[in-house]
Amino acid sequence: MRVRVSTPATVANVGPGFDVFGLALKEPFDVIDVEMVDDGAIIISVTGLGSDDIPVDPKRNSASIAARFVLDAAGADFGVSLSIKKGIRPCSGIGSSGASAAGGAFAANMLLDDPLPNEVLVLAAAKAEGVTAGKVHADNVAPSIIGGFTVVRSLSPLEVVSVAAPKHLGVAVAMPDVMVSTRAAREVLPDSVPVRDLVFHVGHAASLALAMERGDLGLLGRSLRDAVFEPMRSSLVPRLAEVETAAMDAGALASFLGGSGPCVVSLFDLRMNDGENIVSAMKGAFEEGNIDSESWVTACGEGCRRLVP
Ligand code: HSE
Repeated sequence: MRVRVSTPATVANVGPGFDVFGLALKEPFDVIDVEMVDDGAIIISVTGLGSDDIPVDPKRNSASIAARFVLDAAGADFGVSLSIKKGIRPCSGIGSSGASAAGGAFAANMLLDDPLPNEVLVLAAAKAEGVTAGKVHADNVAPSIIGGFTVVRSLSPLEVVSVAAPKHLGVAVAMPDVMVSTRAAREVLPDSVPVRDLVFHVGHAASLALAMERGDLGLLGRSLRDAVFEPMRSSLVPRLAEVETAAMDAGALASFLGGSGPCVVSLFDLRMNDGENIVSAMKGAFEEGNIDSESWVTACGEGCRRLVP
């Protein structure tokens, strides 16, 4: 049996929700073909964006590690062959390794007679992220599997709450020609935060979750702030402040660092704006610093799904 799945890019943190909030994007996405292998092995091949630098050792690849967790959790007596076509550039801040992990778990699950629930797939993929990024975190893999806007209420035991993103929410992304690994971006973070920052984050995170649920884009824009993590990482992304200011001046509701960077993500109201002026403003602000970037307009999307090959 051969199955093809798509697994989307995601934006983690989404302002105040470090390691907690995540948003699935419509584009870009990876495509994974999965087939059963009799002898219990996991075989992996990777093509597409950045594939030369992605490990194909099954013990070091996030898709195969996640698939292994799923097969073991199900007590499966077979292995899988995973052929991954990367549409999401690694080290981009839009969940490239998370999408592979989510897709590996989802694809292996498609081959089971009794498929496991989403919570088990999210946990398998989060553990795979732990092996490749150095710390278990589920804020990319949860939206990649479930879709929409997700809140990781707890990692242990795992509980993820999700809501469909507001239907008028547009997303503009600018990806500079700069690589930032999640592992490196976590090394610059503090071990503790002042109480005033904690209070700031609780207020903004609670309001942002309510704004997503209510579809209140004004409240969403006011709530999308990060007082701790993005400032610590700003030195990793040249022109970050200028790009965000350019997006806000062009009509964005909010502009922020995607995950651990370097992508800059801007949200906007589709009823007021088609997003094209926002992406060109972001691209222009990178260019003024002699930094090439790719930019595109997309929307919030669904999670992993089966494609008809
Ligand atoms: N929450 C993670 C971080 C996401 O910011 O390190 C990594 O993409």
